[in-house]
Amino acid sequence: VDNLIVLGIETSCDDTAAAVVRGNGEILSQVVSTQADLLVQYGGVAPKMAEEAHSRAIDWVTQSALDKANLTAKDLSAVAVTIGPGLSLCLRVGVCKGREIARSFQLPIIGVHHMEAHTLVARLTDRNLQFPFMALLISGGHNLLILAHDLGHYIQLGTTIDDAIGEAYDKTAKWLGLDMRRSGGPAIEDLAREGDPDSIRFKVRFFDFLKHFPSHFCTIDAEIPLSLASSLDRRSRADIAASFQRVAVLHLEERCEGAIEWALKMEPSIKYFVVSGGVASNQYVRARLDQIAKNIGLQLVCPPPSLCTDNGVMVAWTGIEHFQMGRFDPPPPADEPEDTV
Ligand code: KG4
Ligand code: ZN
Repeated sequence: VDNLIVLGIETSCDDTAAAVVRGNGEILSQVVSTQADLLVQYGGVAPKMAEEAHSRAIDWVTQSALDKANLTAKDLSAVAVTIGPGLSLCLRVGVCKGREIARSFQLPIIGVHHMEAHTLVARLTDRNLQFPFMALLISGGHNLLILAHDLGHYIQLGTTIDDAIGEAYDKTAKWLGLDMRRSGGPAIEDLAREGDPDSIRFKVRFFDFLKHFPSHFCTIDAEIPLSLASSLDRRSRADIAASFQRVAVLHLEERCEGAIEWALKMEPSIKYFVVSGGVASNQYVRARLDQIAKNIGLQLVCPPPSLCTDNGVMVAWTGIEHFQMGRFDPPPPADEPEDTV
């Protein structure tokens, strides 16, 4: 098992990422190519442009992941690739590359669910993390609260019905006219440090559809005209950033508390609370959710920031977990046409 070596490929959104990971959790290499210039140019991810950027990057990203690990594709045990959810045009670039490598070197291939990868990477960073555990996944596309019973066996306790929190960060950053080169989240996090989190009132619209606990995340509206925000001085914008962040994260905290209490009744053996996905790289978010975990008596497991945002390591690792359970596809036939997905 420890001798397994898996290449992970991730292209579901705007990062082209690849990594080589060993069965014992050792990260042999990690490469990420971001589309920062496109984010600035289009103010967000434009699928067609993102697809082209993935196509330009995918060959060198996968090759340099192998080079940095001092390996060739012949040394691999399997290839793992994200198959969804995500932008289908973008996913296709990674899947085609993964199949091409698997076909050329007759390697098994493992299709990976992006959100499962965000979850399971916590088992790489914390080798004590056993099922069952609670997980909050917060990214640009999802807010998910899950009870992870076992590998591949997850119960969804909460989700968002509109914007995921990462998207709310991105929209707020765009609205405030912040530098989008590193996506909106880090820009808000930085600016919020200079602001007063209690200065601006944000309205939180709740949509609670389940009786057990409020399971749906909300939309956050500021009572400030959109057209005004980007022309405000830095201090005022910092106040908005800090207030937005406080309300958005408070909302997460409340949902998590309710869901964890409920889950603990069902599954009293839960000891860990995993927080992962791009927004989990935020220090304020980590600190607040650590407090929630402590209050409830769980241990927070939050991967380092570079493994919270999209990366190839989480895909390779999830591939390893499934491969070990015998869940993989055979190598694509050698005569398969090049662009079969
Ligand atoms: O997981 P991820 O890299 O990609 C998706 O699966 O969506 O998450 C990207 C999201 C973006 O919305 C980005 O603004 C947000 O994560 N993000 C952050 C931070 N770093 C990334 N949000 C808040 N604070 C951060 N430091
Ligand atoms: Zn993600």
